[in-house]
Amino acid sequence: MKRNEFIKMTGLSAGTILTGTAFTGLLSGLSSCKKGHGMNTKPVIVNEGSFTKLLAFPAQAGANHTLTAQVTRTTVSGFTIPVLGYQQNNLLGPTFRVNKGDAVNILLQNNLSEHTNVHWHGLKIPALMDGHPDQIATAGGTFRYQFTINQRAGLSWYHPHPHEHTGKQVFQGLAGMFLINDAEEAALNLPSGAYELPLVLQDKRITSGGIPYNPGEEEVMAGFMGETMLVNGVDSPYTEVATRYYRLRILNGSNARVYNLAFSNNADMIIIGNDGGLLKNPVTVKDILIAPGERLDVLVNFAGLSIGTDVYLTSKEFSNGGDAQGKQGFKIMKFKVAVSASDSFTPPATLSVIPTLTAASAVKTRTFNISNEMEHRGMRMEMTHRINGKQYDGSRIDEFVSANTNEVWVFDNSKGDEPHPMHLHGVFFQVLQRSGGRNQLTAAENGWKDTVLVMPGETVRVLVPFENNTGKFVFHCHNLEHEDDGMMLQYQLS
Ligand code: C2O
Ligand code: CU
Ligand code: CU
Repeated sequence: MKRNEFIKMTGLSAGTILTGTAFTGLLSGLSSCKKGHGMNTKPVIVNEGSFTKLLAFPAQAGANHTLTAQVTRTTVSGFTIPVLGYQQNNLLGPTFRVNKGDAVNILLQNNLSEHTNVHWHGLKIPALMDGHPDQIATAGGTFRYQFTINQRAGLSWYHPHPHEHTGKQVFQGLAGMFLINDAEEAALNLPSGAYELPLVLQDKRITSGGIPYNPGEEEVMAGFMGETMLVNGVDSPYTEVATRYYRLRILNGSNARVYNLAFSNNADMIIIGNDGGLLKNPVTVKDILIAPGERLDVLVNFAGLSIGTDVYLTSKEFSNGGDAQGKQGFKIMKFKVAVSASDSFTPPATLSVIPTLTAASAVKTRTFNISNEMEHRGMRMEMTHRINGKQYDGSRIDEFVSANTNEVWVFDNSKGDEPHPMHLHGVFFQVLQRSGGRNQLTAAENGWKDTVLVMPGETVRVLVPFENNTGKFVFHCHNLEHEDDGMMLQYQLS
């Protein structure tokens, strides 16, 4: 049986022969399991830790660096276990910090016993440097990534992208952040140094033997989630803060889990940026969803809190997330107010200039059905993750796009049961509209995006300015189990 065949036969195994009343009962069960209640995927409940471990930050790296993908050992959640790393004794790779205009030269040394590569998620770089699943470092081999930073300030990230192995390699530890700075951002005098905190949020399954990655059929449906929340590779951490503004650079580096971020004291989250860098203006909210692959740039003010106060970054319950997401509220990390500080910073009213692109500028509209309904296949209920009914095939170009044109891309999950964070390589887009489900854009969906969350019942339209970065790129669902299951296609820009 293929792992992507999901059998909906309550209490029956694939080989069971059905006769008489059992068969009739099964048929009536099947006819009622169309949309919405067919999957039986379950939430994976997060076990909150004690928030007594100090938050750590990955080492910083510059534009010239070697990443060594390797099996290494680290201590996490009380176990010293083998994990995958880009450096010794760490789950995450270094945080790159470079300036706009820099020439980057990064050597991937693959010391794994399987192939891997690095995708630079959020970087607008040539197709052959992008970490396309075709562009691979074989076991023991290398791949040299050379490109120029040709884009505005923002938080990008990097992770492996070998087809059918991405989920495993990321879950077991391979990922890192990539920060770009520029003069426009510097002029805003945003909180920096100790007051700018890069935070990678990941849920993991951790045992005394390692980080097992073995999704069953239902976990391919829902995506692979873990019981332990890590921030920067530390389970349930805390950090001490001063009574002033902080800038949180947040990446959802999880395989599948969506978070509804909020502070336990109901503090304002001032959203100043997202996947593609700064927004035009700050937007203040109390909570915000972040899906796998998405980034948030958030200001939070701890001024006025008394020393000794604990404030938690939490994920609140949310609806619309299908059977497996949003069912639980939990704490992610603790900010311990420890130092009083004077702070003259106020969030600037204007952050950046962003042209508003309209649908009228598009020369073409492409619609992608991502609903992936459960289907009756004889007595089986089967669902594979597809886009327009197609599964990833590296030898097939699915969409031919003309350089220097704008297009509208429509992701239609109106009949679907699962959240799909849809991601395009090689471009940033603007979100035009969401209909169905939440029926509106979130505070973090202004400006430039490379990943957009399409919840069950939703149809999301984005405007993509394809420039002249020609070549072959993938686009896919960033639920990594869905991606590895084939929910990925290719476009060729020429
Ligand atoms: Cu972050 Cu193609 O992915
Ligand atoms: Cu990407
Ligand atoms: Cu998906």
